[in-house]
Amino acid sequence: MKKISIVGAGRVGETTAQILAEEELCREVALYDVRDDVPEGVALDIYQTAPFFEFDCRVSGSNDPQILADSDLVVVTAGFPRKPGMSRSDVLAANVKIIDEVTDHIVRYASDAIVLVVSNPVDTLTYRIAQRTGWPRERVFGQAGVLDASRMAAFIAQETGFSSLDITTLVLGGHGDTMVPMPRYCTINGVPITHFIAPERLEAIIERTRKGGAEILALRKNSSAYDAPAASVAAMIDAISNNRRRLMPTVALLDGEYGERDVAMGVPCILDESGLAAVVELDLDARERADFDRSVAAVREDIARLAELG
Ligand code: 2OP
Repeated sequence: MKKISIVGAGRVGETTAQILAEEELCREVALYDVRDDVPEGVALDIYQTAPFFEFDCRVSGSNDPQILADSDLVVVTAGFPRKPGMSRSDVLAANVKIIDEVTDHIVRYASDAIVLVVSNPVDTLTYRIAQRTGWPRERVFGQAGVLDASRMAAFIAQETGFSSLDITTLVLGGHGDTMVPMPRYCTINGVPITHFIAPERLEAIIERTRKGGAEILALRKNSSAYDAPAASVAAMIDAISNNRRRLMPTVALLDGEYGERDVAMGVPCILDESGLAAVVELDLDARERADFDRSVAAVREDIARLAELG
């Protein structure tokens, strides 16, 4: 990829830009933000790390949305983060306005780009951007499950003491308290985690995963998580940029898969240079199905609110 733009030069946007530059996942990173001078400052600061990390990817920032021009991929991180005690849905009304404006900039200046949505509530805002652009789901999708699965992997590593390199996890559903961690698909180098973790400990890990974002927010106090979210975004971009065809949980517009349509949800998807190449359908057992349905219902509630918000 030649150019990746990031909308929102807050903590997630900044950290993502730093990783993209360091790993040279493109030739140019552009940051757009409405706060006076902030994107220029963030970009300059990152660019000045080039000699240490030995990259020559260009990094720039601007308050002018024209900076998005000719992007191959746009990451959307703009919006208000939640405060301790708030749910991701509590920022929906405030963030829809911002996201609509951002969407119009993307359509105007980067009409061929892939759009990777990170702003919360991510499932509903991915749906909103897909509706407003009218672009196919291959080019409009969101990040949530890669982060949620990395949290689950961290908790399993802490619990078992195994190397995180050997841990595979999967989390589906909406990016909220109703997300669906999938222990049946979690392994330590191919060995089911139930071989190592007792049922009640596993339940505790599932519950902690569901509340993983809130845990960081409560500890950090004045900031949501951003290191792991940015690393998750960069991993998805790496899959796309290098045409890896990786299987990654992705917020996708469903079109009959899992018995659902007209909703955006976290499901396993194949990511390649085209963006979201395919949704992979898994057979869900009774508990997984019930949890998935509950999660769909929660996301649909937020989607229904979109109509009132204009
Ligand atoms: C998180 O889960 C902010 O939604 C993000 O940390």
